[in-house]
Amino acid sequence: MLYQNPRGIGCDKCHGIYGNGKIIAVYKENGKKKYLKSPKINNLPKEEFFKSFTLSHKIMPKYFLTYQEINTLYLYLQKIKNGKKGK
Ligand code: HEC
Repeated sequence: MLYQNPRGIGCDKCHGIYGNGKIIAVYKENGKKKYLKSPKINNLPKEEFFKSFTLSHKIMPKYFLTYQEINTLYLYLQKIKNGKKGK
């Protein structure tokens, strides 16, 4: 499955298995608790989803996926979003 095993680290590790986004790490800065969070990615318009693969990110690794593969990921997230329970 491409979402869990693209050519690189799995998307689910950071965005959660349903792409709802989640807290990746908790750290402290000047004695304050900070959270490193990933955005929800299963509610984006298609152009936004595609755009994020052509830009470089601060945290998210850069992937080299084909149009076909990104499209597959997009459709996959749309599908599991509707099948999710509670979360
Ligand atoms: C190392 C953690 C990590 C992994 C792995 C990862 N992401 Fe991300 N992703 C992020 C973070 C954090 C952001 C927010 C932008 C930033 O600061 O990098 C983001 C942003 C995005 C966005 C843009 C969201 C928006 O609101 O504009 C999309 C779409 C996305 N990721 C999809 C994916 C997909 C699909 C995969 C797998 C191929 C993936 N990500 C793998 C952490 C990750």
